[in-house]
Order: sequence, then structure tokens, then C-alpha cells
Amino acid sequence: MMNEIVGLCKRRGFIFQSSEIYGGINGFFDYGPLGVELRKNIKDAWWQDMVQRREDIVGLDSAIIQHPQVWKSSGHLDGFSDPMVDCKASKLRYRADQLFYGKVIVAGEVIGYVSVLEDATMQDQADKAAKKLKKKVGAEGDLSPVELVVYTKADPSEYVLIPSPATGEAGSLTPPREFNLMFKTQVFPMTNASDNAYLRPETAQGIFINFKNVTDSSRVKLPFGIAQIGKAFRNEITPRNFIFRSREFEQMEMEYFIPPGDDVWPKYHKEWIEWCRNWLISIGLRADLIGEDVHGEGDLAHYSKACTDLTFHFPFGEQELWGIAVRGNYDLTKHQEGSGKSLEYFDEAQKEKYIPHVIEPAVGVDRILLATLVSAFAEDEINGEKRSLLKFHPRIAPYKVAVLPLVKNKEELMSKAREVFEYLSKRYHCFFDAAGAVGRRYRRMDEIGTPYCVTIDFDTIEKDQKVTLRDRDSATQVRLSLDELYKTLDEKLNF
Ligand code: GAP
Repeated sequence: MMNEIVGLCKRRGFIFQSSEIYGGINGFFDYGPLGVELRKNIKDAWWQDMVQRREDIVGLDSAIIQHPQVWKSSGHLDGFSDPMVDCKASKLRYRADQLFYGKVIVAGEVIGYVSVLEDATMQDQADKAAKKLKKKVGAEGDLSPVELVVYTKADPSEYVLIPSPATGEAGSLTPPREFNLMFKTQVFPMTNASDNAYLRPETAQGIFINFKNVTDSSRVKLPFGIAQIGKAFRNEITPRNFIFRSREFEQMEMEYFIPPGDDVWPKYHKEWIEWCRNWLISIGLRADLIGEDVHGEGDLAHYSKACTDLTFHFPFGEQELWGIAVRGNYDLTKHQEGSGKSLEYFDEAQKEKYIPHVIEPAVGVDRILLATLVSAFAEDEINGEKRSLLKFHPRIAPYKVAVLPLVKNKEELMSKAREVFEYLSKRYHCFFDAAGAVGRRYRRMDEIGTPYCVTIDFDTIEKDQKVTLRDRDSATQVRLSLDELYKTLDEKLNF
């Protein structure tokens, strides 16, 4: 299914590999004419529901490049890293926590090692590789199932024994070492290496460093949130699964500030998990594909009190979609220490000052977009003819309505269709298509997820002034007067 989605995205202009004419650049993507609409509709829906339709949340748009001290205080400079391992022979680089190895044991004796990259079939791959090795060295006796161990747990004496996944030969893998994921850049007139600036790896810190600006300038009272949508950059060691893990992506994050106290946060945390789940379903994600991963104590950062991820069953496995973390007052405290500026809040009701705690729902736009494609992708048959369609929720569909004159060589028919298009396109993003057989035009609209088509035919101009409204998912058609059409669409497309 992933291959079909990636193919459809390129063919119909949703998503392209970035810099494709130069051979592409791994981990970067460009959004085409339909992709940019889909992405914007997702962001607009989030902004409307998260910010504009709530009284307790305000918006922010902070800079991508911030003072280098921001990343020192937040801990990103010292700790935002993944363990990496290089293969000196192939020059390929892997994440050490995604590289697994195991001893090949025949009749109780170790005859060598195998290695595999993390994926749903890695145990099978390792057992097959072990069988091959046994045959190659001509070992006799029972082969034990391979016990896979993550490379970060390897004993240093084993590094030279573990084969590279690239070459199958041992001796070329380096020991794991930490690799900071932030992209460095220089800001004039900073010239020392110690003055490096960074592209932000998350939007959240822009919110924390503006906490005082927002509380001083807006009449917000706890509990309240600050929300932001914006690009984030991470030099991921192994970007993969299309737009799921890329090096440049966009986040929608909201920091919800609450009073301190261990009896306070659980209620808010629960509410935000539910809010996020319901919101995903409201824009068309399949509820049966959404799961939950509650982090155990061992998986939490030391300052974090709890974290629940909403997961999604992508074709390549169940993966994190939206993290809802309870971050305590860690970030504000660190920025207060780092800047020397008070980030305390005066609680008028309690008549006390404190640094608020925070619940952080943080999600990637690109991951939601991929989940909407997976949820919407469908194939069926209409009158014995196969069709592939995207059942996008109308709120996020790139085009809401297509206006189709039955033929293009009839002046009256074309001008009526133009009139309908002019009216509708002032309200919704519409597409005008007069080329080809109308059945083919319906299929084109189905494939890009346009929920409604309006057809203007001979009867419209010669008989009843009515048009045909066709529904994408059921392919049913109804005849409506223009007044009825405009009213019906208004009901269906008003969110
Ligand atoms: N401020 C908290 C934070 O950034 P995170 O779990 O690292 O937390 C939040 O990121 C969300 O951003 C993830 O749940 C995911 O949806 C998205 N995300 C993170 N890294 C990504 C990447 N390399 N490519 C695409 N989306 C990513």
C-alpha cells in the first residue's frame, strides 16, 4: 500500500522528492499543487480548533533561529542526539539503536554473527542469514534461533565481529557514538565555533522563551495555552518511510500551562489525550487505526511525569503520531536559570507566585498528512469498473467541488458552468474541468479526493435549470436547482 500511496502522491502532484532533477536529497520533500492544499487545510483546521475556537489558547509564530543559549538551557545542545554507527567500507551510516545483531550458534558453538536493521521481519531475516552462514561454513548440528540484541548493547570486543548490514562482512562497523541532530549554521557577526546558531529542532522552545512576553501582553490566566505551527529541522541519521521521518518537517505544538501539584496535571493530561484523538477522527483519520502508547517510568525523561503517544497503524507498522507529554516546569525553570529573567506567574486567586507546569500535545503535520492519505486511500468498483479514490474528509480535501460542463463546445452550457464556478469558488476551493468524457473527469476527481462534482448538462439549459450533484464515496447523483445546490453544499462544507 505504501508504494501505491507514494506513486499516487507523485503522479497527481501531492508530494515530490526534493531536488529530484539533481538526484534527490534524502529526508527532504516538496509539496506539489495538491499537497500544499492538503497540508494547509490540515494546519488551518488545527489552528481554528486549537486557537480560534477556544478562549483559553493563543497563538505564536517564533523565529526558526534563536539565541544559541536557548538550546543550551533547553538541554538540546548536550542531549538531543541519537547513537550512530558508521560502516567504514560502504560509508553508510546507521542508527545504532535500529541495528540489531545476534550470535549464530550451531550445536552449542558460536560460528559467527548476523546483523539486521530494525523492522517487523527482522527475526525472520536474522534466522535466514544464520542458516546461510551455517551452510557456508559447513557446520554440522542444530541451529539455535538467533537472539537479537541492539547494537548499543554490544560488548566492545564484538564490534569487529558483527557484519555490516551493507556488505555482510565483519570488521567495518565503528563503535556507536552520539550524534547531535541539530543543524548548525552561522549568524553574522558570530564567528567563533562556540557561537554556532541552530535551526530549531522543535517549535516548543519558541513558546517557552516567549512565555513572559505573552503573559505581559495578553490577558491570559491559568490554565491557558500557547500554540504554534512551524518548521522544525533534525539531521535524522536514517530518515525513512516517505514523509514519516524526514529532516525538515512541520510541527503543531501547544504548551498548556497549569498550576503545579501532582493532583492537578492528571485531569488535564487525560482531557488533552481525548481532545487530540477526537480531533484526528474529526478530520478523517480512521479510528480503528489509532492506538495509544503509555510510556512506562523507564521511558520518561527525568523531568517528565507522564507521556502518552497516540499511535497510528501505518502500512510499515504502528508508530508514534502525536505525543502528549507532562513536562512539569522543567523548560520554564531552565530558561529562567539560563536567562536570569523571572518566568514566574502570579496566581491572583491563590495569591502566590510559581513557575507553571505544562502539558504538551506535539504533533507533526507531515505525519498527520501521511495518516490522512492512509485512512483515505481506497479502491472499489463502480458498474464493473475499478476505481481508486481518496476518501478525504471534505474539511481537508484539496478541492471541495469540481464544476464540470458536460461538453465544452456548447457556449450556453459553458457559460452556465462558469457562472456556477464563479459563485462556488468565492466560497470553496473549486476545480473547473471541461476536458474529456465526464466519466473520466469523475475518476480524476475521485483519485484526488474531491468530495463533490457538479455537472451542467443539456437539461440544465434547455429544460429545468437543474444541475447534477455527485457524491464521491457513494457515486450517487441528485438533480438540484441552483438554490438547492448552494444550500446543500453550504450544509456539507461548513465546518
Ligand atoms: N516538543 C516535543 C517534541 O518535539 P517529539 O516527539 O520529538 O516531541 C513531536 O516530536 C512530533 O513531531 C512527533 O510526535 C512527530 O509527529 C513529529 N516528528 C518528530 N520528528 C519528526 C521527523 N523527523 N519527521 C517528521 N515528523 C517528526
